[in-house]
Amino acid sequence: MTARRFYITTPIYYINGAPHLGHAYTTVACDVLARWHRLRGEDVRYLTGTDEHGQKALKSATAEGITPREFADRIVLKYHQAWKALGISHDDFIRTTEERHRAGAQELWRRIEAAGDLYKKDYEGLYCVPCESFYLESQLVDGKCPTHHVPVESVKEESWFFRLSKYQQPLLDFYESRKSFVTPATRMNEVVSFVEMGLQDLSVSRLIPWGIPVPGDEKHVMYVWLDALSNYITALGFGPGSERAFSPYWPADLHVVGKEIIRFHAVYWPAFLMSAGLEPPRQILSHGWLLKDDEKMSKTQGNLADPLKLEQWFGADAVRYYLMREFNLGSDGNYSEEAILDRVNTDLANDLGNTLSRITRILTSDLGGRVPRVAHGTALREHAERAWARATDAMERHDVQEALKATWELLSATNKFLVSEEPWKLAKDPGKRAHLEAVMHDASEAMRHVGNLVAAVMPGAAREIWRRLGIDGDPFSRALADGKGAIEWGFPEAGDAIHESGMFPRLDKSAFFADVQQDAAGQTAVDRESSKAAQASASAGAAAVHSGASAGKGVIQYDDFAKVALIAAKITGAKKHPQADKLLVLDVDDGTGAPRTICAGMAEWYAPEELVGKTVAIVANLAARRLRGIDSQGMVLAASWTGTDGKERVQVVVLPDSVPAGAIVR
Ligand code: MSP
Repeated sequence: MTARRFYITTPIYYINGAPHLGHAYTTVACDVLARWHRLRGEDVRYLTGTDEHGQKALKSATAEGITPREFADRIVLKYHQAWKALGISHDDFIRTTEERHRAGAQELWRRIEAAGDLYKKDYEGLYCVPCESFYLESQLVDGKCPTHHVPVESVKEESWFFRLSKYQQPLLDFYESRKSFVTPATRMNEVVSFVEMGLQDLSVSRLIPWGIPVPGDEKHVMYVWLDALSNYITALGFGPGSERAFSPYWPADLHVVGKEIIRFHAVYWPAFLMSAGLEPPRQILSHGWLLKDDEKMSKTQGNLADPLKLEQWFGADAVRYYLMREFNLGSDGNYSEEAILDRVNTDLANDLGNTLSRITRILTSDLGGRVPRVAHGTALREHAERAWARATDAMERHDVQEALKATWELLSATNKFLVSEEPWKLAKDPGKRAHLEAVMHDASEAMRHVGNLVAAVMPGAAREIWRRLGIDGDPFSRALADGKGAIEWGFPEAGDAIHESGMFPRLDKSAFFADVQQDAAGQTAVDRESSKAAQASASAGAAAVHSGASAGKGVIQYDDFAKVALIAAKITGAKKHPQADKLLVLDVDDGTGAPRTICAGMAEWYAPEELVGKTVAIVANLAARRLRGIDSQGMVLAASWTGTDGKERVQVVVLPDSVPAGAIVR
């Protein structure tokens, strides 16, 4: 039996600035749905990417004095960085400046033209650059764009038009046959009313120098929305010569979009596809906005929250949890750092962390570290069944918030169960051993299910729950039981449980906000670390704030850093490791006169001869390690990052030749 397919997409993001929390919100929501469907054993394809053409990109690049392509390359890196930090598990990342996209978008144009749906005329209209959209005078609020509250530009030029008016009835028929094409239902109603009011033909080309040339009329470029929308099929390989059924993943199961771009997805996109003889997507989920002080978070408003900073402060799981728990996907909601902090302290540190820690403490101190195997269960099993039924039903409706509420009810039931059964007292009475075992089996089993239930939202925490309960593998290696709410009950064969603190340490509010202020004041991470080190004794016992945790590594004190001996060294010889494809074996001069060999995982990026003669920085006091038969005495520093193509890059940190071997690096 072939697995059910599930193709889910985010909108592709404009590259006029770095990703902000509003973008992260859409992307995390899609990631959670993608992970949930993967957990159910489905064949998931999750697409995201960047929308790089149009006037908005052109303006931002021009303001910086660089080409739009250079500008886009820079911003795309930030997207890769942010999505990596937030644990986004997309299968593909499409950029509209890629050849595969250009070819597919032009093919879509040709098909629409062949259907007789394009014509050219002179046009005059009011254009909002942040929206990349024309408005009628009557749609403006105080003469400004209703979404961005900025003045619109008057545009007068020759333009290609799409016969959108021809698709009014076909669209209404289509909506009639797919009542939940758009969710929530209120947005479906808005779309239907918009189309019922009458559709005007749509301008689909611009005379600007940055975009995909119109086939056969290359002084025009395709309207950025027609170009952008086609990403959903070009990423699947749609292009010249494609059949009607060009990919098993089309039609998409779900396009997730913010409410301000619903018209483009629910009206224009199906109309373009109908014209080209392709199937419309199955469903569009329209979510609300993250607001800051009741205003939409956006670059135009200048009220942005940086997802990378939040990840550094709170960790990816906490940010993902906050976004999914605090807001109902359909509605708008105000964002605040204080609210994240409260969620961390209450839901994660208290409810989740403490319950797990209560369980692992008893397992390790009274039950030899193993979850007991028992014949009879307790009433807790019913709570778990209820949680699964409710969460599964909610996730089918894309209601992640409701699924989390159901999970937290199971957590709370587990906690109440522990409080009423008092296993810490049972443990003192040898006659109650069987009862203790039944209680602890079920509490551990409920916790394992909590791990599975939170896995799509908090993959890191889910793995950690399993690890601490002593279960091998991770919650992602087992597909969720099929069918609504059907769960397996019975703790699997497992190793030793581990009792550790700190899965979600409580955060101290005043320490946190002091740190945020220092950050805002522009102090460097190094300044922050040394001032923190100075304050360390004064604030002993205060909760750790995850700031400065570049690369997600958490805060260290200066003393920790000072333990690392970094020195300059000259590479005098290099060869491939005879038994490891990825390693190079380097001879280095570290200034002591004694030979030193380092095995470096750089064979993928450097030929041995490229490194000989370079002065590099090495970690000189790292314990020696035998790597496939060769002792490696240290490490060479190198930068690594994800390239615009999504592939990993590595470059050695090279020091000037004038630096002598043995010089201290700090
Ligand atoms: N490039 C177009 C989409 C083309 S899709 C074929 C675009 N880009 S965008 O960068 O402006 O927005 C992308 C997504 O981010 C949208 O879903 C939008 O709603 C979301 N968000 C941007 N700011 C947001 C908030 N403040 N809150 C929640 N989501 C918001 O539109």
